[in-house]
Amino acid sequence: MKTFFYDYIVLGSGVAGLRAAIELAGFGSVAVVTKCFLGESSSEYAQGGVAVALSDDDDISLHIEDTLRAGDGLCDMKAVSTLVEQGPKYIKQLISWGAKFDMHGGVLEFSREAAHSVNRIIHAKGDATGHEIVRTLKEYSKNFGNIEKIEYTYAIDFIKDAPDSVCGVFALDEKTGEFKLYYAKAVIVATGGAGRLYRRTTNPAVVTGDGMAMAFRAGADMRDMEFYQFHPTGLSVPGAPAFLLSEAMRGEGGILRNVNMERFAAKYHPDGELAPRDVVSRAIFFEMKQTGSDHVFLDLTHLEKDFVRNRFPKIYTTCLEYNIDITVNPIPVSPAAHYYMGGIFTDEFGRSSLKGLYACGEAACNGVHGANRLASNSLLEGVVYGGRSAETAAADTMDKKVHAVELPAFETVSEERADGMVEEIQECMWDCVGVSRNSAGLARAKEYLGGHLTKYKNYVPVDRNTAEIRNMLTVGLLMANAADERKGSRGGHYRDDYPDRIADNWHIYFHNAEFNPVK
Ligand code: FAD
Ligand code: SIN
Repeated sequence: MKTFFYDYIVLGSGVAGLRAAIELAGFGSVAVVTKCFLGESSSEYAQGGVAVALSDDDDISLHIEDTLRAGDGLCDMKAVSTLVEQGPKYIKQLISWGAKFDMHGGVLEFSREAAHSVNRIIHAKGDATGHEIVRTLKEYSKNFGNIEKIEYTYAIDFIKDAPDSVCGVFALDEKTGEFKLYYAKAVIVATGGAGRLYRRTTNPAVVTGDGMAMAFRAGADMRDMEFYQFHPTGLSVPGAPAFLLSEAMRGEGGILRNVNMERFAAKYHPDGELAPRDVVSRAIFFEMKQTGSDHVFLDLTHLEKDFVRNRFPKIYTTCLEYNIDITVNPIPVSPAAHYYMGGIFTDEFGRSSLKGLYACGEAACNGVHGANRLASNSLLEGVVYGGRSAETAAADTMDKKVHAVELPAFETVSEERADGMVEEIQECMWDCVGVSRNSAGLARAKEYLGGHLTKYKNYVPVDRNTAEIRNMLTVGLLMANAADERKGSRGGHYRDDYPDRIADNWHIYFHNAEFNPVK
């Protein structure tokens, strides 16, 4: 097998991965291994913006308070204060590298999103914030000759040199079909979330929970796997993807109406349309049930038409493709899988429980989001923790030598009905581990996912479809097990058989050695 040696490997080229790679370039050679073209990621499609305490009306303590409140008591204070305190420095740096955020009267324009107590969200080209940040990071990274971008290369598993230590990555070069071994002092996982586990999601096709499943198989601790966030407003048109209708649309005055055109959000929370995201998603879910419909409406038709077109140009043109003029027609919407709060457990420096393995961005669970992420805190997390995890990895592994190891013999497997399986998993997750959960559904999910996962035990997938299926089954099963274990409702995790909020602040951890996926 072809073997390559670098000082550092970064998996993924979204905001977190690109930011980490730029930091690492100051310390040695860097390989950015990414499964599609550079930058294809959730980051690229982020709309609403970045939450950062930079406006004159804002304060670090207010942003911390809002983050903790949305997290419903399960955030880690150290991780949150790091995010919010370091945020302004990292965003100013991004601007100095060329990021162009929207300005008003020569100063940054700050918008409002749900559960923020002040206008705090900066954005670019209205609703194309992610694209602007990814563009900036891709451009800036060209200044470093020691960053190699390895596209269309799919990471399958980590290579270990000791039971508690990672020293590289086993990957499939999809251009040539060759397997390759990449060794390094440290590997940073920035592979994003797992939205594609669900039938309805805002996430692009690359987001299949790979890094989380790889880390779990390698023995890293996982945390908060029951906490998944459903965005309230994905486009709901037959045959169309669940394209995101940004929360910023409600921040600018958009109204939620049920199919009888009644405004309903205030029935569920005093903040109405601007209540925390988990509350609004459930309100829509219940309203759809009560009216027997598969959607509600997001209504902007009372707002000034030019304002709407200019503020949300990408959304405006995308909806037109589905014959919806958002300045004239209320938009049919319903919740869609959006963001994973849980993931690879790390400290507030990005260290996982394995030596040589670091995680940042959506793949990581460092405690900044608790049970429910505050809107627009994720891009901020990507830049802040991308930078920090890289700094930490470099400092921790300064004296480490990169070396190859003898790989254990392994058998290979490939999935014959890959497409059908993906859809089956997505249906199962949507029906049984979705917005509203209960023990009967979770038992069904555990049986289905666990039953299929046993087929992959001790086998290594030899194609991307099979590897993605194994990862989806793994992450789905972790989620179903954690959701079953938490008999109560909290943040993004809602049980209709235990609807009451349980106030004690404990977390569920999984560790491979202790976890029996088929129990
Ligand atoms: P991603 O950006 O998802 O990047 C993951 C990378 O890993 C990709 O490059 C992928 O190709 C690669 N990868 C995955 N698996 C493998 C593998 N096996 N081998 C190699 N490479 C792999 N957040 C905000 O804060 N503000 C917003 O306005 C906002 N809007 C959003 C809108 C949409 C439509 C979506 C989907 C999300 C939005 N979010 C927003 C959430 C936010 O964009 C993401 O949580 C964040 O960008 C995640 O960044 P990341 O770098 O961790 O992962
Ligand atoms: C949105 O624009 O509604 C997405 C914001 C986010 O996910 O934080």
